[in-house]
Amino acid sequence: MISPMTIPAGFLEELEAAFAPGELIVDPEAMEPFGRDETEDLFFPPEVVVRPRTREGVSTLLGLASRHRVPVTPRGGGTGLSGGALPVEGGVVLALDRLDRIVEIDEADMVAVVEPGVITQVLQEAVEARGLFYPPDPASRGSCTLGGNLAENAGGPRAVKYGVTADWVLGLEVVLADGSVIRTGGACRKDVTGYDLTRLFVGSEGTLGVITEATLRLVPYPPARALLLAAFATMRDGLEAVLGVFREVTPSVCEFLEGAALAAAAEHLSRPLPAPGAEAYVFLEVDGMEEAEVETRLLRVGGVLEAGRASEVLVAQNPRQTEELWALRRATGEAVKGLSTYKEEDCVVPRSRIVELVEGVKEIAGRHGITTLCYGHAGDGNIHVNILRMGASDRVWHEELPGVIEEIFRLTVSLGGTITGEHGVGYTQRRYLPIGVGPRELEVLRSLKVALDPLGILNPSKVLP
Ligand code: LAC
Ligand code: ZN
Repeated sequence: MISPMTIPAGFLEELEAAFAPGELIVDPEAMEPFGRDETEDLFFPPEVVVRPRTREGVSTLLGLASRHRVPVTPRGGGTGLSGGALPVEGGVVLALDRLDRIVEIDEADMVAVVEPGVITQVLQEAVEARGLFYPPDPASRGSCTLGGNLAENAGGPRAVKYGVTADWVLGLEVVLADGSVIRTGGACRKDVTGYDLTRLFVGSEGTLGVITEATLRLVPYPPARALLLAAFATMRDGLEAVLGVFREVTPSVCEFLEGAALAAAAEHLSRPLPAPGAEAYVFLEVDGMEEAEVETRLLRVGGVLEAGRASEVLVAQNPRQTEELWALRRATGEAVKGLSTYKEEDCVVPRSRIVELVEGVKEIAGRHGITTLCYGHAGDGNIHVNILRMGASDRVWHEELPGVIEEIFRLTVSLGGTITGEHGVGYTQRRYLPIGVGPRELEVLRSLKVALDPLGILNPSKVLP
């Protein structure tokens, strides 16, 4: 796809005057990776990539872009799954990867102050070295950035116990569309001074402002944990077992994978598939400060699984086995994508409706002869529905599929759910937004966009239809 050329005369020259040569990329080949993220096979070439080293650079860029009315698409690690970082209207890609300092880990107030380009896992390891914990753990935590996590309000397996990114943010520094800089919140645990702008910017997908610093909450690191993998003959058995577990304990992880999804991950990593032949797998982890406490919780989970219909339960016996199971789970997304051209939906329902969601998805897709693979965060009622093209004809893939996706989303909403839990609306889901958001609510969203980005330069053609 070719984007419209939007850069007016004089803009590039002003960028060149304001930025060091290493902060600008204009060579089409070097810009190519900035035109993709992890969303399907989409590609939109940027017209220029700006990689500032300072927040002042971000502010300068947005000031210039406003004056010249050039679109700016902020970008973190490029691991997004709804096309949020794609420059679909051309213009500038604002790569934030060089704003990668952990400014401070404050052990007294138990907060970390970070720039947006810090890789999530890098922060996690830095705070863990001091006995502290920053829980949000998207599957891509080794390559995604905190800025991207903030922009998308990323979740991950541990969200079921610890919450999503937004639950860990106390304050932000944000560069607005005109280049001015604001601060929201801070290191205080309580703050009702005006509207909650922090929550507004988190999850706004780069459409309302650019986050240049965040103050994140930390807690003591829970060193004790136990992970098990349960296998089930049917998806219903697996999902019903999940519901039973929550009445006993709050697990720190509760993931569901359709058998073929875990098999794809094992194949992808050339590892043996544990407990092969099942139609569904559930990963359950319990954590805590003491081994004994974790042991008690694990026994309670085991009891539920035994009373349910688990065909096999494997408890990781040592850190190596734990890591092997995690490697399979984290590789699932990439492995499933490797099977075929695909589209991924990110349905979420109240946990109790998850059996109806998965069975409904299978029924709808089956009726259209479309292959799906489901996996995700069962404890959150959040299922990633991967729609695989396999042998589907052009007609089915291009003409029938949007209707099928719509049907899946209508089912999700009818179950009290919504159309994205953690991947965002971005570019690919915005056409479906009116299924998940009412007309008056959409007007409110639009008025916020207009208030903060009146010229519409920030990540245009995203989120709002
Ligand atoms: C996962 C990503 C796709 O859960 O959200 O693996
Ligand atoms: Zn996920």
